[in-house]
Amino acid sequence: MMKDPLFSDIGSRLSARSGINELMEDLGEAVAGGHRIQMGGGNPAHIPESEALWRERWLEMGETPGQLESTLGDYDGPRGKIQFLEAFSEHLRNAFDWEIGPENLAVFSGSQTAMFLLFNLIGGQCGARRRRVVFPLLPDYIGYGDQAIDPGTFLGVPGAIELRGERGMKYRIDFDRLRLPEDTAMLCLSRPTNPTGNVVSDEEMRQLEVLAQKSDAYLVTDNAYGMPFPGVIHRPAAALWTPHTIHAFSLSKLGLPGTRTGILAAPAPIAAALARMNANLALANPSVGQALVTPLIRSGRLQALCREAIRPYYARRAAHAAATVKAALPSGMDFRLHENEGAFFLWLWLPELKVSASEAYMELKREGLLVIPGDRFTPGLREKWDHPGQCLRLSFGIPEDQVERGAAILGRVVPRLCRQIP
Ligand SMILES: Cc1ncc(COP(=O)(O)O)c(C=O)c1O
Repeated sequence: MMKDPLFSDIGSRLSARSGINELMEDLGEAVAGGHRIQMGGGNPAHIPESEALWRERWLEMGETPGQLESTLGDYDGPRGKIQFLEAFSEHLRNAFDWEIGPENLAVFSGSQTAMFLLFNLIGGQCGARRRRVVFPLLPDYIGYGDQAIDPGTFLGVPGAIELRGERGMKYRIDFDRLRLPEDTAMLCLSRPTNPTGNVVSDEEMRQLEVLAQKSDAYLVTDNAYGMPFPGVIHRPAAALWTPHTIHAFSLSKLGLPGTRTGILAAPAPIAAALARMNANLALANPSVGQALVTPLIRSGRLQALCREAIRPYYARRAAHAAATVKAALPSGMDFRLHENEGAFFLWLWLPELKVSASEAYMELKREGLLVIPGDRFTPGLREKWDHPGQCLRLSFGIPEDQVERGAAILGRVVPRLCRQIP
C-alpha cells in the first residue's frame, strides 16, 4: 500500500526550499555572528540618525501614559491602527496628490505577507480560467518566485539590456516583447528594482498603466525601497495612482524590519478583501512599527529623515561600493555593473562566467563571502534566458570595511571562474 505523503499538495509547494529560504538562512547566519561577509541579504544599514530617532520614540512611547500598554496589550482591527491609516493616507494625499483615504489601505505583517495575499487574491485559477500575474521586467525580486499557490499564475518577461559606457548597463522594459496574455489580471514590478537598483522611468510606468487599463488588470508597484519611505531613489520619479494601480509599501528598508510592517494601497473593495484575508490568516497586525512612526509621519520628521539622512547615506554607499568592486576586479576582465538609481544593491554582470551562478555563489561562500546568484531573480520565467545566470547581486548595506573585504574576495575568486579574454 502506498504511504500517504506527509504534506498536502499546497503544503508541499509552500514548504519547498526556495531562493528566498536560502537567502533568509544566510541572513540568519550573519545576524547570529557568522564569520562570512554578508553581501547576500537585503538587511537595511544601521544608520545612526535613524537609530537615534527610533530610540527617542521608543522612550517617548514608554513615558507617555497608556501608549506602550495599548501598543503591546491590545489587538488592532485587521486593517491596521486607525491613527496610522489616517496619518499615512494624509501623507499620500499631500505628497503625491492622490485621492486616497484609510479605506484604501491595509497593513500586514511585512510586505512579503502583503504580496502573498495580493497575488493569491487576484491571481490564480478562477473557474475554468486562470488569472495571470505578469512581471514585465526581469530580473525582479527573488521573494515573489514561490508565492503563487497556483503554480501557473506567474509569467515573467526578460528585460532588454542597454549597454552604458565601458562598465555600465541598464534594463529596459521590452515593450515589443511584452505581449500580455488575454487572462492577465495583474502586472507587478519593484521600483527601485530589487535586485538591480533600476528605477523604471515615469514614461515606462505610464505605458504599463495603459496596458493594465486595456486588459482590465492592475499595475502593482512594490515600493519597498522607494516612495515614500525610505525614498532611496536617486532620480526624479512620480508615483501613479489610478483605479488600475495598487502600491505596496514597507517600513523595513527604513531600518525597521523587526517591526514587520507592510502596507498595501488599493481600490477600496480590494483593500477590504485583503483585510478580511488577513483576519483569517493572522487576526491582526504587529502594531509596534505603526505606533512608532505615526507621530513622525504627522510631524514630517520621518520624511525629513529619508530626505536628509537615509537617501544621501545610500547614495554615498552606492558610489563607494561600485568604485571598490571595480577596483578589485582585474581591468582586463569583462564585467558590467547596473546603474544604481536606487535601493542598496550592486548587480554585477560577468558575461564570461564559465560556471553557473549557483556554483559561483557556492565558491564565494566557501571563501567567506555571501552573495545571491542572479538566476534566482526570475519569477515566472518560462523561456531559456542565460543572462541572469551570469550575474550576482551584492548588497552594500553592511559597513564599508566589510564591503572592501568582500570586494577583495570577489577580486580573488571571480577571475578564476571566468573565461580569460585573449
Ligand atoms: C522588493 C521587495 N519587496 C518586498 C520585500 C519584503 O519586505 P518586508 O516583508 O520586510 O516588508 C522585500 C524585502 O527584501 C523586497 O526587497
